[in-house]
Amino acid sequence: GIPKFVKIVEVGPRDGLQNEKNIVPTSVKVELIRRLVSSGLPVVEATSFVSPKWVPQLADAKDVMKAVCDIEDARLPVLTPNVKGFEAAVAAGAKEVAIFASASESFSKSNINCSIEESLARYRAVCLAAKEHSVPVRGYVSCVVGCPVEGAIPPSKVAYVAKELYDMGCFEISLGDTIGVGTPGAVIPMLEAVMAVVPAEKLAVHFHDTYGQSLPNILISLQMGISTVDSSVAGLGGCPYAKGASGNVATEDVVYMLNGLGVTTNVDLAKLMLAGEFISNHLGRQSGSKTAVALCRV
Ligand code: HMG
Ligand code: MG
Repeated sequence: GIPKFVKIVEVGPRDGLQNEKNIVPTSVKVELIRRLVSSGLPVVEATSFVSPKWVPQLADAKDVMKAVCDIEDARLPVLTPNVKGFEAAVAAGAKEVAIFASASESFSKSNINCSIEESLARYRAVCLAAKEHSVPVRGYVSCVVGCPVEGAIPPSKVAYVAKELYDMGCFEISLGDTIGVGTPGAVIPMLEAVMAVVPAEKLAVHFHDTYGQSLPNILISLQMGISTVDSSVAGLGGCPYAKGASGNVATEDVVYMLNGLGVTTNVDLAKLMLAGEFISNHLGRQSGSKTAVALCRV
């Protein structure tokens, strides 16, 4: 069976906007976050405290965080690649952070400029600092089925990195198909390997929709006992260091599927669509959500 409740982790303001060619004004980011929260989403990833040289799109992280940190109806985690980012995040009012390792050596190098082992050492330091501040840490593993450089990634490698993040204290591990190449054929053995070392209730799935495989991958993940799903309003997203990666699976499409399955999310699809319309209008393009496009015509 599939879970009765699924927690959706909205990553649009971070994973989505980090990849936009044009820099989105701080006020638009803040309004987007507010609209997403008011749709009932329990978690909205707000921004990243990363190097502005690496991701100029999120260089206003401090201002975004200061403007939204009073929000109480949702958790608003932020990405932190190191202790420097962690300290800046907490100073700006962040109450939850996420660290991001990779199952691919090449991607680790191109995304955070260090090896997997070096990143794990950095993240142990972040987890230690977070523990002192009682700040919950989420862990990401990227390239869980494929890497733009290395191709297929062995499930054992993903399980190893996920277990390391779990052991250093992450309350949840999100498994990312960064470039969206996975089909259920690759996702099933990957999840089996990870679930052998980290309990399913501590796992989340994070799919990019490059090949249109996100919804089948999510469905199979739910059937395997996963009950946390990352998605991005209007299908915003990609990754600046993963060439060809398209947007994350659209939150509207995930909610539409879950509604159809009778799964509770507490998300109001109509309000969510208004948030999607707001950011799509700002970006001057049609929503990447098929559900949003279809329901607008009705
Ligand atoms: P580096 O160049 O090796 O860092 O970058 P460094 O320690 O040598 O420092 C270089 C400069 O960056 C210094 O400044 C530091 O102060 C500064 P300078 O002296 O040159 O003026 N710096 C920072 N500034 C602000 N905030 C910080 C910070 N740290 C150092 N936290 C680093 C290493 C990790 C910093 C860099 O590579 C970086 O910021 N990478 C982030 C890349 C990123 O955000 N990628 C996208 C997110 S991952 C993703 O999208 C995948 C995911 O969605 C899951 C999936 O889809 O699978 C999560
Ligand atoms: Mg991503």
